[in-house]
Amino acid sequence: MSRVRELLVHLDRSAGRLGAQVQAGLRAAIRSGRLPADFRMPSTRALAESLGVSRGMVVDAYEQLVAEGYLTSRHGSGTRVTAACVAPQPADPTGCDPVIPITHDLKPGVPDLSAFPRAAWSAATRHVLHTAPHAAFDYPGPSGTSELRVALSDYLGRVRAAQARPEHIVVVNGVAQGLSLVSQALRRLGLDVLAVEDPSSDRQRGIFSTHGLTVAYAPTDAEGIDVDALASTGARAVLVTPAHQYPTGVVLSPRRRAALVDWARTHDGLIVEDDYDAEFRYDRDPVGCLQGLAPDRVVHLGSTSKALAPGMRLGWAVLPAPLIERIHDLKTNADLGSATLPQLTLVRMLATGAYERHLRTMRAHYRIRRDAVTEALAEHLPAARVHGVAAGIHLYVELPPGSDESATVRRARERGVRVEPMAAMRALAGGPPAVIIGYAGLSPDRLREAVRLLARSVLPAVAPPS
Ligand SMILES: Cc1ncc(COP(=O)(O)O)c(C=O)c1O
Repeated sequence: MSRVRELLVHLDRSAGRLGAQVQAGLRAAIRSGRLPADFRMPSTRALAESLGVSRGMVVDAYEQLVAEGYLTSRHGSGTRVTAACVAPQPADPTGCDPVIPITHDLKPGVPDLSAFPRAAWSAATRHVLHTAPHAAFDYPGPSGTSELRVALSDYLGRVRAAQARPEHIVVVNGVAQGLSLVSQALRRLGLDVLAVEDPSSDRQRGIFSTHGLTVAYAPTDAEGIDVDALASTGARAVLVTPAHQYPTGVVLSPRRRAALVDWARTHDGLIVEDDYDAEFRYDRDPVGCLQGLAPDRVVHLGSTSKALAPGMRLGWAVLPAPLIERIHDLKTNADLGSATLPQLTLVRMLATGAYERHLRTMRAHYRIRRDAVTEALAEHLPAARVHGVAAGIHLYVELPPGSDESATVRRARERGVRVEPMAAMRALAGGPPAVIIGYAGLSPDRLREAVRLLARSVLPAVAPPS
Protein backbone atom coordinates (compact mmCIF):
# COMPACT_ATOMS: atom_id res chain seq x y z
CA MET A 1 0.00 0.00 0.00
CA SER A 2 2.89 2.39 0.74
CA ARG A 3 3.99 1.95 -2.87
CA VAL A 4 0.53 3.06 -3.99
CA ARG A 5 0.59 6.08 -1.75
CA GLU A 6 3.92 7.18 -3.18
CA LEU A 7 2.32 7.60 -6.58
CA LEU A 8 0.44 10.68 -5.37
CA VAL A 9 -1.97 10.86 -8.26
CA HIS A 10 -4.64 13.41 -7.47
CA LEU A 11 -7.95 13.05 -9.25
CA ASP A 12 -10.53 15.78 -9.64
CA ARG A 13 -13.78 13.86 -9.93
CA SER A 14 -15.79 16.94 -10.84
CA ALA A 15 -13.60 17.51 -13.91
CA GLY A 16 -14.53 14.17 -15.57
CA ARG A 17 -12.28 12.14 -17.92
CA LEU A 18 -10.85 10.15 -15.02
CA GLY A 19 -8.95 7.79 -17.30
CA ALA A 20 -7.05 10.68 -18.86
CA GLN A 21 -6.38 12.09 -15.38
CA VAL A 22 -4.88 8.78 -14.18
CA GLN A 23 -2.59 8.71 -17.23
CA ALA A 24 -1.57 12.35 -16.85
CA GLY A 25 -0.90 11.94 -13.14
CA LEU A 26 1.36 8.93 -13.68
CA ARG A 27 3.13 10.61 -16.59
CA ALA A 28 3.82 13.70 -14.48
CA ALA A 29 5.09 11.58 -11.58
CA ILE A 30 7.56 9.84 -13.90
CA ARG A 31 8.70 13.00 -15.67
CA SER A 32 9.37 14.85 -12.45
CA GLY A 33 11.38 11.97 -11.06
CA ARG A 34 8.91 11.43 -8.24
CA LEU A 35 8.73 7.84 -9.43
CA PRO A 36 12.37 6.82 -9.69
CA ALA A 37 13.94 4.87 -12.53
CA ASP A 38 13.12 1.17 -12.35
CA PHE A 39 10.42 1.75 -9.74
CA ARG A 40 8.11 -1.23 -9.70
CA MET A 41 4.55 -0.07 -10.24
CA PRO A 42 1.86 -1.40 -7.95
CA SER A 43 -0.52 -4.01 -9.34
CA THR A 44 -3.36 -2.60 -11.36
CA ARG A 45 -5.79 -3.92 -8.77
CA ALA A 46 -4.04 -2.19 -5.86
CA LEU A 47 -3.77 1.12 -7.67
CA ALA A 48 -7.38 0.98 -8.85
CA GLU A 49 -8.53 0.38 -5.28
CA SER A 50 -6.41 3.17 -3.90
CA LEU A 51 -7.61 5.68 -6.48
CA GLY A 52 -11.23 4.52 -6.35
CA VAL A 53 -11.40 3.83 -10.08
CA SER A 54 -12.08 0.72 -12.12
CA ARG A 55 -9.24 -1.73 -12.67
CA GLY A 56 -9.79 -1.47 -16.43
CA MET A 57 -8.98 2.23 -16.24
CA VAL A 58 -5.61 1.53 -14.62
CA VAL A 59 -4.89 -1.31 -17.09
CA ASP A 60 -5.56 1.16 -19.93
CA ALA A 61 -3.28 3.77 -18.30
CA TYR A 62 -0.42 1.29 -17.90
CA GLU A 63 -0.81 0.13 -21.51
CA GLN A 64 -0.81 3.68 -22.76
CA LEU A 65 2.33 4.58 -20.80
CA VAL A 66 4.05 1.40 -21.95
CA ALA A 67 3.24 2.41 -25.54
CA GLU A 68 4.65 5.89 -24.90
CA GLY A 69 7.83 4.46 -23.36
CA TYR A 70 7.33 5.74 -19.81
CA LEU A 71 6.76 2.22 -18.44
CA THR A 72 8.28 -1.11 -19.39
CA SER A 73 6.39 -4.30 -18.88
CA ARG A 74 8.40 -7.48 -18.56
CA HIS A 75 7.08 -10.89 -17.86
CA GLY A 76 7.99 -11.93 -14.35
CA SER A 77 9.21 -8.53 -13.13
CA GLY A 78 5.98 -6.55 -13.41
CA THR A 79 5.63 -3.05 -14.80
CA ARG A 80 8.52 -0.70 -14.08
CA VAL A 81 9.42 2.94 -14.72
CA THR A 82 11.68 3.22 -17.79
CA ALA A 83 15.01 4.67 -16.69
CA ALA A 84 15.48 7.04 -19.64
CA CYS A 85 12.22 8.89 -18.89
CA VAL A 86 13.10 10.04 -15.40
CA ALA A 87 14.36 13.60 -15.23
CA PRO A 88 17.30 14.21 -12.92
CA GLN A 89 15.75 15.71 -9.78
CA PRO A 90 16.44 19.44 -9.54
CA ALA A 91 17.59 20.03 -6.00
CA ASP A 92 15.19 22.11 -3.92
CA PRO A 93 17.35 25.00 -2.64
CA THR A 94 16.09 24.39 0.87
CA GLY A 95 16.93 20.68 0.67
CA CYS A 96 13.29 19.94 1.43
CA ASP A 97 11.33 17.18 -0.26
CA PRO A 98 9.82 18.96 -3.30
CA VAL A 99 6.68 16.86 -2.99
CA ILE A 100 5.61 18.77 0.12
CA PRO A 101 3.20 21.38 -1.21
CA ILE A 102 3.82 25.06 -0.57
CA THR A 103 0.73 26.28 1.24
CA HIS A 104 2.02 29.70 2.27
CA ASP A 105 4.22 31.20 -0.44
CA LEU A 106 6.13 34.19 0.89
CA LYS A 107 8.44 34.43 -2.10
CA PRO A 108 9.52 38.06 -2.42
CA GLY A 109 9.17 40.21 -5.50
CA VAL A 110 5.72 39.13 -6.63
CA PRO A 111 2.72 41.46 -6.24
CA ASP A 112 -0.81 40.16 -5.65
CA LEU A 113 -1.41 38.50 -8.99
CA SER A 114 -5.09 37.98 -8.21
CA ALA A 115 -5.50 41.76 -8.08
CA PHE A 116 -4.37 42.46 -11.63
CA PRO A 117 -6.80 45.15 -12.90
CA ARG A 118 -8.29 42.92 -15.56
CA ALA A 119 -11.40 45.01 -16.21
CA ALA A 120 -9.49 48.29 -16.52
CA TRP A 121 -6.79 46.73 -18.68
CA SER A 122 -9.37 45.11 -20.90
CA ALA A 123 -11.31 48.39 -21.31
CA ALA A 124 -8.09 50.22 -22.12
CA THR A 125 -7.08 47.55 -24.66
CA ARG A 126 -10.50 47.76 -26.31
CA HIS A 127 -10.15 51.51 -26.56
CA VAL A 128 -6.74 51.16 -28.19
CA LEU A 129 -7.97 48.56 -30.65
CA HIS A 130 -10.83 50.85 -31.69
CA THR A 131 -8.77 53.98 -32.05
CA ALA A 132 -5.17 53.12 -32.98
CA PRO A 133 -4.26 53.74 -36.63
CA HIS A 134 -3.09 50.80 -38.78
CA ALA A 135 0.44 52.19 -38.57
CA ALA A 136 0.48 51.35 -34.85
CA PHE A 137 0.89 47.69 -35.76
CA ASP A 138 4.12 48.22 -37.70
CA TYR A 139 7.55 47.54 -36.14
CA PRO A 140 7.63 49.84 -33.13
CA GLY A 141 11.12 51.37 -33.25
CA PRO A 142 13.79 50.91 -30.59
CA SER A 143 12.73 53.63 -28.16
CA GLY A 144 9.08 52.63 -27.80
CA THR A 145 5.97 54.52 -28.84
CA SER A 146 6.12 58.27 -28.57
CA GLU A 147 2.71 58.17 -26.82
CA LEU A 148 4.10 56.11 -23.93
CA ARG A 149 7.32 58.08 -23.68
CA VAL A 150 5.33 61.32 -23.43
CA ALA A 151 3.00 59.79 -20.83
CA LEU A 152 5.95 58.42 -18.81
CA SER A 153 7.74 61.73 -18.97
CA ASP A 154 4.76 63.33 -17.27
CA TYR A 155 4.16 60.44 -14.83
CA LEU A 156 7.76 60.04 -13.71
CA GLY A 157 8.13 63.80 -13.33
CA ARG A 158 4.99 64.04 -11.22
CA VAL A 159 5.31 60.88 -9.13
CA ARG A 160 9.07 60.27 -8.96
CA ALA A 161 10.41 63.83 -9.39
CA ALA A 162 12.36 62.59 -12.41
CA GLN A 163 13.70 64.86 -15.15
CA ALA A 164 12.73 62.60 -18.01
CA ARG A 165 12.28 64.15 -21.41
CA PRO A 166 10.47 61.77 -23.79
CA GLU A 167 13.49 61.51 -26.08
CA HIS A 168 15.59 60.27 -23.15
CA ILE A 169 13.19 57.39 -22.43
CA VAL A 170 13.47 53.91 -23.92
CA VAL A 171 10.66 51.42 -23.36
CA VAL A 172 12.10 48.05 -22.31
CA ASN A 173 10.86 44.62 -21.32
CA GLY A 174 11.23 45.21 -17.59
CA VAL A 175 14.12 46.34 -15.42
CA ALA A 176 15.87 43.09 -16.31
CA GLN A 177 16.15 44.07 -19.96
CA GLY A 178 17.18 47.58 -18.96
CA LEU A 179 20.03 46.07 -16.93
CA SER A 180 20.99 43.83 -19.79
CA LEU A 181 21.18 46.75 -22.26
CA VAL A 182 23.05 48.95 -19.80
CA SER A 183 25.52 46.12 -19.06
CA GLN A 184 26.28 45.81 -22.76
CA ALA A 185 26.66 49.57 -23.08
CA LEU A 186 29.06 49.65 -20.12
CA ARG A 187 31.23 46.97 -21.72
CA ARG A 188 31.37 48.94 -24.94
CA LEU A 189 32.39 52.04 -23.02
CA GLY A 190 35.22 50.07 -21.44
CA LEU A 191 33.58 50.11 -17.99
CA ASP A 192 34.09 46.44 -17.17
CA VAL A 193 33.44 46.59 -13.45
CA LEU A 194 29.98 47.21 -12.04
CA ALA A 195 29.67 47.90 -8.33
CA VAL A 196 26.59 46.42 -6.72
CA GLU A 197 25.11 46.79 -3.26
CA ASP A 198 25.71 44.03 -0.78
CA PRO A 199 23.31 42.45 -0.03
CA SER A 200 21.38 42.65 -3.29
CA SER A 201 19.14 40.67 -5.61
CA ASP A 202 20.90 37.43 -6.54
CA ARG A 203 18.68 37.10 -9.60
CA GLN A 204 20.34 40.03 -11.37
CA ARG A 205 23.91 38.77 -11.12
CA GLY A 206 23.58 36.45 -14.10
CA ILE A 207 22.72 39.42 -16.31
CA PHE A 208 26.03 41.11 -15.52
CA SER A 209 28.17 38.02 -15.97
CA THR A 210 26.40 37.14 -19.24
CA HIS A 211 27.60 40.44 -20.63
CA GLY A 212 31.12 40.02 -19.30
CA LEU A 213 31.00 42.51 -16.44
CA THR A 214 32.94 41.92 -13.26
CA VAL A 215 30.91 42.66 -10.16
CA ALA A 216 32.44 44.48 -7.18
CA TYR A 217 30.40 44.63 -4.00
CA ALA A 218 29.96 47.66 -1.77
CA PRO A 219 28.36 47.09 1.64
CA THR A 220 25.13 48.76 2.72
CA ASP A 221 24.10 49.84 6.20
CA ALA A 222 21.16 51.67 7.74
CA GLU A 223 21.77 54.62 5.37
CA GLY A 224 22.10 52.56 2.19
CA ILE A 225 25.24 52.02 0.15
CA ASP A 226 28.58 52.90 1.77
CA VAL A 227 29.94 55.42 -0.74
CA ASP A 228 33.50 55.36 0.64
CA ALA A 229 33.58 51.60 0.16
CA LEU A 230 32.17 52.08 -3.33
CA ALA A 231 34.98 54.52 -4.16
CA SER A 232 37.55 52.00 -2.98
CA THR A 233 36.30 49.36 -5.45
CA GLY A 234 37.65 51.41 -8.36
CA ALA A 235 34.43 50.79 -10.32
CA ARG A 236 33.03 53.67 -12.38
CA ALA A 237 29.50 52.31 -12.59
CA VAL A 238 27.21 51.32 -9.73
CA LEU A 239 23.77 49.77 -9.44
CA VAL A 240 21.67 50.98 -6.49
CA THR A 241 18.13 50.72 -5.14
CA PRO A 242 17.88 54.12 -3.41
CA ALA A 243 14.12 54.35 -2.74
CA HIS A 244 13.98 50.97 -0.99
CA GLN A 245 17.19 48.98 -0.82
CA TYR A 246 16.71 45.43 -1.98
CA PRO A 247 16.50 43.42 0.18
CA THR A 248 17.17 45.31 3.44
CA GLY A 249 14.42 47.89 2.87
CA VAL A 250 16.39 50.97 3.95
CA VAL A 251 16.17 54.29 2.11
CA LEU A 252 19.36 55.94 0.87
CA SER A 253 19.91 58.81 3.32
CA PRO A 254 20.07 62.43 2.05
CA ARG A 255 23.76 62.53 3.04
CA ARG A 256 24.55 59.42 1.02
CA ARG A 257 22.47 60.58 -1.94
CA ALA A 258 24.62 63.69 -2.13
CA ALA A 259 27.81 61.65 -1.63
CA LEU A 260 26.82 59.20 -4.36
CA VAL A 261 26.16 61.95 -6.91
CA ASP A 262 29.42 63.57 -5.88
CA TRP A 263 31.21 60.21 -6.40
CA ALA A 264 29.73 59.99 -9.91
CA ARG A 265 30.83 63.51 -10.78
CA THR A 266 34.37 63.19 -9.42
CA HIS A 267 34.97 59.72 -10.89
CA ASP A 268 33.25 60.33 -14.23
CA GLY A 269 30.94 57.55 -13.08
CA LEU A 270 27.48 56.29 -13.92
CA ILE A 271 24.75 55.44 -11.41
CA VAL A 272 22.14 52.88 -12.42
CA GLU A 273 19.04 53.43 -10.31
CA ASP A 274 16.71 50.43 -9.96
CA ASP A 275 13.42 52.03 -8.89
CA TYR A 276 11.64 48.68 -8.72
CA ASP A 277 8.95 49.26 -6.07
CA ALA A 278 8.89 52.99 -5.33
CA GLU A 279 5.12 53.22 -5.89
CA PHE A 280 4.59 51.54 -2.55
CA ARG A 281 5.43 53.65 0.47
CA TYR A 282 2.96 53.54 3.34
CA ASP A 283 4.14 56.04 5.93
CA ARG A 284 4.78 59.10 3.71
CA ASP A 285 5.38 60.05 0.09
CA PRO A 286 8.29 58.16 -1.45
CA VAL A 287 11.54 60.07 -1.77
CA GLY A 288 12.04 61.42 -5.28
CA CYS A 289 14.30 59.41 -7.53
CA LEU A 290 18.04 59.98 -7.75
CA GLN A 291 17.78 60.64 -11.46
CA GLY A 292 15.99 63.92 -10.68
CA LEU A 293 19.10 65.11 -8.84
CA ALA A 294 21.60 64.23 -11.57
CA PRO A 295 20.00 63.31 -14.91
CA ASP A 296 23.40 63.50 -16.62
CA ARG A 297 24.84 60.80 -14.33
CA VAL A 298 21.94 58.47 -13.62
CA VAL A 299 20.23 55.77 -15.67
CA HIS A 300 16.80 55.37 -14.10
CA LEU A 301 15.08 51.97 -14.51
CA GLY A 302 11.50 51.15 -13.59
CA SER A 303 8.73 48.79 -14.63
CA THR A 304 5.14 47.76 -14.12
CA SER A 305 6.23 44.48 -12.54
CA LYS A 306 5.22 45.44 -9.00
CA ALA A 307 2.48 47.92 -9.85
CA LEU A 308 0.63 45.57 -12.25
CA ALA A 309 2.32 42.19 -12.69
CA PRO A 310 5.77 40.88 -13.62
CA GLY A 311 4.25 38.99 -16.52
CA MET A 312 3.66 42.31 -18.29
CA ARG A 313 7.39 42.63 -19.04
CA LEU A 314 6.93 46.35 -19.54
CA GLY A 315 9.38 48.90 -18.20
CA TRP A 316 11.42 51.99 -18.99
CA ALA A 317 14.92 53.35 -18.93
CA VAL A 318 15.59 57.08 -18.62
CA LEU A 319 19.02 57.77 -20.03
CA PRO A 320 21.70 60.45 -19.92
CA ALA A 321 22.14 61.93 -23.40
CA PRO A 322 25.43 60.19 -24.28
CA LEU A 323 23.87 56.75 -23.81
CA ILE A 324 20.70 57.20 -25.87
CA GLU A 325 21.98 56.23 -29.29
CA ARG A 326 23.98 53.29 -27.98
CA ILE A 327 20.98 51.90 -26.10
CA HIS A 328 18.77 52.36 -29.18
CA ASP A 329 21.24 50.24 -31.15
CA LEU A 330 21.38 47.58 -28.47
CA LYS A 331 17.59 47.49 -28.15
CA THR A 332 17.22 47.15 -31.92
CA ASN A 333 19.62 44.25 -31.91
CA ALA A 334 17.87 42.68 -28.93
CA ASP A 335 14.30 42.58 -30.24
CA LEU A 336 13.51 45.44 -32.69
CA GLY A 337 11.55 47.21 -29.94
CA SER A 338 8.96 46.34 -27.30
CA ALA A 339 5.41 45.32 -28.22
CA THR A 340 3.19 48.27 -29.13
CA LEU A 341 -0.23 47.20 -27.92
CA PRO A 342 0.63 46.94 -24.20
CA GLN A 343 2.41 50.28 -24.42
CA LEU A 344 -0.65 52.01 -25.84
CA THR A 345 -2.83 50.25 -23.28
CA LEU A 346 -0.64 51.59 -20.49
CA VAL A 347 -0.94 55.08 -22.00
CA ARG A 348 -4.72 54.76 -21.79
CA MET A 349 -4.51 53.48 -18.19
CA LEU A 350 -2.40 56.48 -17.28
CA ALA A 351 -4.64 58.95 -19.14
CA THR A 352 -7.87 57.74 -17.53
CA GLY A 353 -6.37 57.58 -14.04
CA ALA A 354 -6.97 53.81 -13.90
CA TYR A 355 -3.29 53.13 -13.24
CA GLU A 356 -3.09 55.42 -10.25
CA ARG A 357 -6.48 54.24 -8.94
CA HIS A 358 -5.13 50.70 -9.01
CA LEU A 359 -2.01 51.81 -7.16
CA ARG A 360 -4.10 53.51 -4.47
CA THR A 361 -6.13 50.33 -3.96
CA MET A 362 -3.02 48.15 -3.80
CA ARG A 363 -1.26 50.50 -1.39
CA ALA A 364 -4.14 50.11 1.04
CA HIS A 365 -4.09 46.29 0.69
CA TYR A 366 -0.36 45.94 1.04
CA ARG A 367 -0.21 48.20 4.04
CA ILE A 368 -2.73 45.97 5.85
CA ARG A 369 -0.76 42.88 4.84
CA ARG A 370 2.52 44.34 6.00
CA ASP A 371 0.95 45.26 9.33
CA ALA A 372 -0.40 41.70 9.66
CA VAL A 373 3.13 40.31 9.25
CA THR A 374 4.80 42.73 11.64
CA GLU A 375 2.07 42.21 14.27
CA ALA A 376 2.28 38.43 13.93
CA LEU A 377 6.07 38.60 14.24
CA ALA A 378 5.73 40.67 17.42
CA GLU A 379 3.35 38.06 18.80
CA HIS A 380 5.00 34.80 17.70
CA LEU A 381 8.65 35.73 17.25
CA PRO A 382 9.28 38.80 19.41
CA ALA A 383 13.07 38.37 19.24
CA ALA A 384 13.00 38.88 15.45
CA ARG A 385 13.80 42.37 14.10
CA VAL A 386 12.04 43.92 11.14
CA HIS A 387 14.27 46.27 9.16
CA GLY A 388 13.61 49.05 6.73
CA VAL A 389 10.85 51.55 6.11
CA ALA A 390 7.16 50.84 5.60
CA ALA A 391 7.33 50.33 1.87
CA GLY A 392 7.34 47.83 -0.96
CA ILE A 393 6.01 44.30 -0.94
CA HIS A 394 8.64 42.48 1.11
CA LEU A 395 10.14 42.58 4.58
CA TYR A 396 13.69 41.91 5.68
CA VAL A 397 13.47 40.10 9.00
CA GLU A 398 16.44 39.29 11.19
CA LEU A 399 15.83 36.03 12.98
CA PRO A 400 16.53 35.84 16.72
CA PRO A 401 20.29 35.99 17.32
CA GLY A 402 21.88 32.56 17.12
CA SER A 403 19.25 31.10 14.78
CA ASP A 404 20.30 28.74 12.00
CA GLU A 405 19.03 30.52 8.88
CA SER A 406 19.12 27.63 6.43
CA ALA A 407 17.75 25.07 8.90
CA THR A 408 14.92 27.47 9.75
CA VAL A 409 14.07 28.03 6.09
CA ARG A 410 14.13 24.27 5.45
CA ARG A 411 11.95 23.51 8.45
CA ALA A 412 9.47 26.22 7.46
CA ARG A 413 9.36 24.73 3.97
CA GLU A 414 8.56 21.33 5.47
CA ARG A 415 5.56 23.03 7.06
CA GLY A 416 4.50 24.44 3.70
CA VAL A 417 5.92 27.96 4.20
CA ARG A 418 8.33 29.30 1.61
CA VAL A 419 10.55 32.19 2.70
CA GLU A 420 13.77 33.31 1.08
CA PRO A 421 17.00 32.91 3.05
CA MET A 422 19.37 35.86 3.04
CA ALA A 423 22.47 33.77 2.33
CA ALA A 424 22.10 33.87 -1.45
CA MET A 425 21.84 37.65 -1.47
CA ARG A 426 24.98 38.30 0.52
CA ALA A 427 28.30 38.41 -1.29
CA LEU A 428 30.65 39.77 1.36
CA ALA A 429 31.20 38.49 4.89
CA GLY A 430 28.02 36.95 6.27
CA GLY A 431 25.52 38.98 8.26
CA PRO A 432 23.03 37.98 10.91
CA PRO A 433 20.57 35.15 10.16
CA ALA A 434 17.64 36.66 8.29
CA VAL A 435 14.85 35.91 5.84
CA ILE A 436 12.93 37.88 3.26
CA ILE A 437 9.16 37.70 3.47
CA GLY A 438 7.09 38.63 0.44
CA TYR A 439 3.67 39.52 1.78
CA ALA A 440 1.76 40.77 -1.25
CA GLY A 441 0.02 37.57 -2.32
CA LEU A 442 -1.63 36.27 0.86
CA SER A 443 -4.58 37.51 2.89
CA PRO A 444 -3.82 38.93 6.35
CA ASP A 445 -5.16 35.74 8.00
CA ARG A 446 -2.96 33.49 5.89
CA LEU A 447 0.01 35.74 6.57
CA ARG A 448 -0.56 35.49 10.31
CA GLU A 449 -0.73 31.71 10.01
CA ALA A 450 2.46 31.68 7.90
CA VAL A 451 4.33 33.72 10.50
CA ARG A 452 3.10 31.42 13.26
CA LEU A 453 4.45 28.42 11.32
CA LEU A 454 7.69 30.23 10.58
CA ALA A 455 8.13 31.09 14.26
CA ARG A 456 7.72 27.40 15.17
CA SER A 457 10.40 26.55 12.60
CA VAL A 458 13.16 28.72 14.01
CA LEU A 459 16.08 26.53 15.02
CA PRO A 460 19.18 27.54 16.96
CA ALA A 461 22.47 27.34 15.08
CA VAL A 462 24.02 25.11 17.70
CA ALA A 463 21.97 22.61 19.65
CA PRO A 464 21.90 23.56 23.33
CA PRO A 465 23.90 21.17 25.52
CA SER A 466 21.67 18.40 26.80
C1 LIG B 1 15.64 44.41 -6.99
C2 LIG B 1 14.69 44.22 -8.12
N1 LIG B 1 14.77 45.01 -9.19
C3 LIG B 1 13.92 44.88 -10.21
C4 LIG B 1 12.91 43.95 -10.20
C5 LIG B 1 11.92 43.91 -11.32
O1 LIG B 1 12.46 43.46 -12.48
P1 LIG B 1 11.56 43.44 -13.79
O2 LIG B 1 11.09 44.83 -14.04
O3 LIG B 1 12.49 42.95 -14.85
O4 LIG B 1 10.44 42.50 -13.56
C6 LIG B 1 12.81 43.09 -9.14
C7 LIG B 1 11.77 42.05 -9.14
O5 LIG B 1 11.68 41.20 -8.32
C8 LIG B 1 13.71 43.23 -8.06
O6 LIG B 1 13.63 42.45 -6.99
